[in-house]
Order: sequence, then C-alpha cells, then structure tokens
Amino acid sequence: MDLIYEKSSPGRRAGGVPQYDLPRVEVPAALRRAAPPRLPEVTEPELVRHVTALADRNFGIDTGFYPLGSCTMKHNPRVNERAAGLPGFRDLHPLQEDEGAQGALDLMWRLQRYLSEITGLPGVSLQPAAGSQGELTGLMVMRAYFTDRGEGPQRDTIITADTAHGTNPASVTMAGYALEKVATDARGNLDLADLRTKVNERTAGLMLTNPSTLGLFDEGIEEVAEIFHDAGALLYYDGANLNAVVGHSRPGDMGFDIVHINLHKTFSQPHGGGGPGGGPVAVRDTIEPFLPSPQVVRDGNAFRLDHDRPKSIGRVRGFAGPFGVFVRSYAFMRAYGPELREMSDVAVLNANYLLARLRDVFELPYDRHCMHEFVLSARNLKREHGITALDVAKRLMDFGIHPPTVYFPLVVPEALMIEPTETEVKARLDEFVDAMLQISREAAEDPELLRTAPHTRPVTRLDEVRAAKEPVVRYDFAGHTTTQAGTR
Ligand SMILES: Cc1ncc(COP(=O)(O)O)c(C=O)c1O
Repeated sequence: MDLIYEKSSPGRRAGGVPQYDLPRVEVPAALRRAAPPRLPEVTEPELVRHVTALADRNFGIDTGFYPLGSCTMKHNPRVNERAAGLPGFRDLHPLQEDEGAQGALDLMWRLQRYLSEITGLPGVSLQPAAGSQGELTGLMVMRAYFTDRGEGPQRDTIITADTAHGTNPASVTMAGYALEKVATDARGNLDLADLRTKVNERTAGLMLTNPSTLGLFDEGIEEVAEIFHDAGALLYYDGANLNAVVGHSRPGDMGFDIVHINLHKTFSQPHGGGGPGGGPVAVRDTIEPFLPSPQVVRDGNAFRLDHDRPKSIGRVRGFAGPFGVFVRSYAFMRAYGPELREMSDVAVLNANYLLARLRDVFELPYDRHCMHEFVLSARNLKREHGITALDVAKRLMDFGIHPPTVYFPLVVPEALMIEPTETEVKARLDEFVDAMLQISREAAEDPELLRTAPHTRPVTRLDEVRAAKEPVVRYDFAGHTTTQAGTR
C-alpha cells in the first residue's frame, strides 16, 4: 500500500480554509519557518480512501473477537457515543464557570457516587487519565498520607505480586518507592509464607490485582489485608480486573484502602488505539483529604469544583479529567441499572466456558475455576512440536481473531491469556474454540503452517527482533527524492 506522501500531488487539497478578512498579523521573522511544511497534498476522496484502507487492515472489536487478556476489549455501546456527543457536554468549555456547567458537574458527582458504591470506598477522584496514572496518583496519595502521619521516610517499600502488570513496578519506581516482589503459591494465590517474611515497618503498602492477572481470585485476601494492616501499611487495589467482580465483591470490603478503576475497560470506552482512558481513584475516609484537587462536591442542589483542599497532592491532570470518558461510563452504568452485576456474571461465565472447552488441549497451570479471564500454556505444543504461544497467536489472525495476550503473566511459560468479556455470544466463543482446536491439530500435522503464520493478513510474519531494534517511525524523504518539500 502506498504511503500518503506517495499519493501526494502539488496543489491538491482536501478542503478549503475560509478567506481571512481581518487585518493581517505579521509573524515575527525569527518565528517564521523558512520553508513550508512537508505535508502530503491529496483530494478529500483520496484522503478518505487512504484512511479507510488503513483502518481495514486493522483488527478491532468492531471487526471480530478480541480476547486480549487483561485489556477487557468489550463492545462499546453506540448509545454512549450519542450521550457523549450531546451539545451540552460536547461543546462545554473546560474553563466554563461552575454555574454554567451544572449538568456536567452533576454527572461527575453521580459517577463518583457510583464508583464509591462499586468499590466500597467513600472518597473518589475522577482526575487520572488511565489505570497507570491512577496507580501513580494512588501511590502519591499513599505517600502524602504517611508523610502527614510522620512516617514518610520510614515507609519506603511497596510489595507487588510476581504476576503484577508491568505498570505496577513502573508506578512504584516513579513514585519513589523501593519494590519488593512476593511469590505466587501453587494455587495461584499470594504465597503467604513468603509475604510474611517481607512485610515489616518499612512497608508502605501492597499493590495487588484481584482477581490476579492469572484470572484467579485470591483466596487468602482477608489474611493478606490483616498482615499489612497489622504492620501499619496500606493496600492498593489495581482495578484493571474489576470486570470480574462488580456487584459481587468490593475492594473496600476485601480490605483495600486505595483503588483505581479502569473506566475504559470495565465501563466501556473505545480504547484499542491507546486512549482516551479514565483511571479514577477511590479511597477510605482517612485518606480522602489527600486526593487530587479540585474535587467535585455538592452543596444542596448545586455542584462545584472544590479547590480548598490543603492536604491534597494537587492536580494530576488538566481541568477536571477526561470528561467524555465520564459520560460514556455513566451512560454504560445507567443502561444496566441495578443489574450491573450481570455484566460480571456473564464475563465470568464466558471465560469459564472457554476454559472448560480448551483445558484438555492446552496446559492449564492452575487448575481452578477462573474469573473473567484465564491463562493457558502452549508449553505442551512447544515440547511436542516446537510450536510457541507466538505461533498460536499469529495463526489465530488467519481466522479473523485478535490474538490473546501472550507471554504474560511471566510466571507461566508460553502463556496465552484469554479474556472473552460478557459481550460475546456463544457462537463467537465456539468459533474461537474451533480455531484453537484446529491450531492444536495443525501443530502436529503441519507445524510450518503455524511458524510462518499469518498467511491472510496484509502483513505476514515480521522479524520481531528487527522491528523492535530498528523501528522505522519516520518517512525517509531523502530516500524518496521525487517527494520534495510539499511537492511530488
Ligand atoms: C492488570 C493491569 N494493571 C494496570 C493496567 C494499566 O492500565 P492502563 O492501560 O489504563 O494504564 C493494565 C492495563 O492493561 C492492566 O491489565
């Protein structure tokens, strides 16, 4: 497929800018660019075709099954887009004074209340823009809490599981804490014996996903909470897997003190291309004063942004947070109403259905019912036929299915992490099983077919090492001498 620069022709335009009829403003010579920017010049139909062709080459939840474990790639209800596009929301200026933004503040206040109910924790800040930023915010809040108690320098370590998502250790390091890892036991829970040797007076807290990235609910969570609280430390809940437990169990009731929620996963938001997301943080009442500022508060029937929060860690994102995400998540919750727990019921049911149908063909490292996702190992295929998890993932693309997450969590060799979500019908789940069963047969009968897959995609097997080490991320104008500055 040609690049847009290779379709460029001088003087072509996709649209016109209205004539400027105000006095011309001279840009100071020092700020003026010497040559026009090298932009492609194409007509609107050519531009639309180019972008559509690019989109067609992509996988997305709107084109097929997308069981990318931990990412919760569920259908995004279209009515949410309509709500987010209402002019009163869409056209609201972020600097609009509170009196003129009552509807938006009302929605944000209600969303805070819903998240408080779902997590079982009273204080909520909507500001963080993603799960990872929620993690950093939560840890900054934790530090502010301990500093306020005079324990800041003493408590310098955060404990994470060896199954933790990569953002957990990254956030711990960014927040200035030392990192300690705790092992997973034979049932996929935190290893309590290992944990007890690591928690002490230097521990600030635990950072844990429950269910874990293995898709398993930690059976010892109450004991875990006791160990940390007895040591004066706090528990942080990485809410990326909240899709499994909404309406069934609440992090606050499990003993967690600080939680982030990935709005874009659990409460839907198109997020496959990297955004926009939402990572609100919910906390216990004793920690609430340290949440980011401003907070949305209600005075009688009026809503306002409260900036008067002396103990707050301050602002972590521009304006009041990713507002469009709030509208979609709020609309999502209202569409379910009190039946929101059915979302988690079906997510867990779908995952267990797939697990039951695939467990005899792939290895199952932890033989338990799963929550909303599960992890298989392709180790048997590797041992018997030299076929890896990567080969399985690549071959799935030939069936029009987005690969599951592979090689994560790190504790499972040749890991395939599968999350179907609640929005898939049984026929689609069965298609996935059929594809996986066919792939396991192919591993024995025609392994080369898998090693060279995918065969039907616009891009076939890449040299992954080279792609990582020598990425081409810039158009090489010098190598394409026919494409001059803005001309061809
Ligand atoms: C378990 C877990 N924690 C944290 C994150 C980070 O969330 P985000 O991608 O919104 O930054 C993810 C994202 O995939 C995750 O799966």
